[in-house]
Amino acid sequence: MTQEAYVTQGPLTTEAGAPVADNQNSETAGVGGPVLIQDQSLLEKLAHFNRERIPERVVHARGAGAYGTFTLTRDVSRWTRAAFLSEVGKQTETFLRFSTVAGNLGSADAVRDPRGFALKFYTEDGNYDLVGNNTPVFFIKDAIKFPDFIHTQKRDPYTGSQEADNVWDFWGLSPESTHQVTWLFGDRGIPATLRHMNGYGSHTYQWNNAAGEIFWVKYHFKTDQGIKNLTQEEANKLAGEDPDSHQRDLRESIESGDFPSWTVQVQIMPAAEAANYRFNPFDLTKVWPHEDYPPIEIGKLELNRNPENVFAEVEQSIFSPAHFVPGIGPSPDKMLQGRLFAYGDAHRYRVGINADHLPVNRPHATEARTNSRDGFLYDGRHKGAKNYEPNSFGGPFQTDKPLWSATAVSGATGTHEAPGHAEDSDFVQAGNLYRLMSEDEKSRLIENLAGFIAKVSRDGIAERAVNNFRQADGDFGKRLEAAVQALRG
Ligand code: HEM
Repeated sequence: MTQEAYVTQGPLTTEAGAPVADNQNSETAGVGGPVLIQDQSLLEKLAHFNRERIPERVVHARGAGAYGTFTLTRDVSRWTRAAFLSEVGKQTETFLRFSTVAGNLGSADAVRDPRGFALKFYTEDGNYDLVGNNTPVFFIKDAIKFPDFIHTQKRDPYTGSQEADNVWDFWGLSPESTHQVTWLFGDRGIPATLRHMNGYGSHTYQWNNAAGEIFWVKYHFKTDQGIKNLTQEEANKLAGEDPDSHQRDLRESIESGDFPSWTVQVQIMPAAEAANYRFNPFDLTKVWPHEDYPPIEIGKLELNRNPENVFAEVEQSIFSPAHFVPGIGPSPDKMLQGRLFAYGDAHRYRVGINADHLPVNRPHATEARTNSRDGFLYDGRHKGAKNYEPNSFGGPFQTDKPLWSATAVSGATGTHEAPGHAEDSDFVQAGNLYRLMSEDEKSRLIENLAGFIAKVSRDGIAERAVNNFRQADGDFGKRLEAAVQALRG
């Protein structure tokens, strides 16, 4: 559908529906006199305009979204009892919001940054949100570091700009970021469009089957359009010429009936294998190598409908890693655990306590039945129903069936580091990624990294940053050091 379809009929009115006689001239006391307070049409218009913005997302502010369909193509019932994953051929409505991370709402699309890949499944058991990125790993592994990390990516409190010093100071002092940073400065760091990149759930999640058995799972969404990226030079040019390039591309391709799709795969680890796996399977800075857990194709995701109103459906859309459905649950990943709190809290601040009631956010294949009521912009959906439980008037009741299976814990409380496994190190997978790259790709990676590292104001920051890559791979470190030195003189 294109914009022409949305035609408004009839006279312009006030918010209360009264016809507006003059939308060109405000009402004055005499010709050339001051404006009158009785011109409610003017006052209402100015006041409404002043309140058009809501707080932008503190991260991932810049984004584009579309509705679609998920189709299950493989029987996965031995691993999960999730109803929307119960039958081959079953289709579930979805909404996907893509985003960049660091830029503000009006920033350009063609930049080097991870892309958010936030997917809502409107299932019959309520909404299931998978709030991932286009990368399978992340920069840090404990939620307590997230605000510090994001501060270094955003504008400096004094200069008001993103500062190379802050970015590289933090990354250099956080060796666990080496894998994600190597990925980000490689070819996939600037996707050509939102359609030409993969999506990942990134974290490990729990699937549980009808018998209550636990499987640890990682999700992959492989683009059917093929991977296409921009070089740094191409991106610099495009970001200047068409800051909305990705958003526009997505909308136009769906408008023209060229629906993008992704093949959905999962890696599955039986619960008993987690304790002795060579890497900590809940460490978000690491992948599960495919030779250990081969990806299994389970479905197809297609985007086929544009939102009708970007503010209502994209800006006000909310996604939470805590939105699970029966058969799916969290893992002990410390990042994920922090995220289970952060998103709902952000939504209540950014969109309000009734954010879940908005059309894009509410369940589409079932209804929400809670005893929560009222608050700003409550729409009266529950009409006169009782608002407490238990009640003897036929109100909603608890099921006594937890969404996910219980996991065993041991030891004392404390601010523990997540346990290390036999082959865990902050550098091993970054080095493997580097060694997988072609010679050309390695050269572009070094050039991209060096160009940014060279901007820092202190040698110590540059040296620490380079040292992390040196530990990942000796050749990587040597070449990067030379390239940084050549630029810094
Ligand atoms: C502990 C670490 C993290 C914290 C505390 C955190 C927090 C947040 C917050 C507060 C928002 C804004 C939500 C809103 O206003 O609606 C957000 C957005 C987002 N985050 Fe995170 N985040 C973390 C890590 C991650 C990771 C690891 C990923 C991906 C694997 C991720 C993916 C996203 C995406 C895709 C969005 C945008 C959602 C949308 O489109 O509305 N975040 N995050």
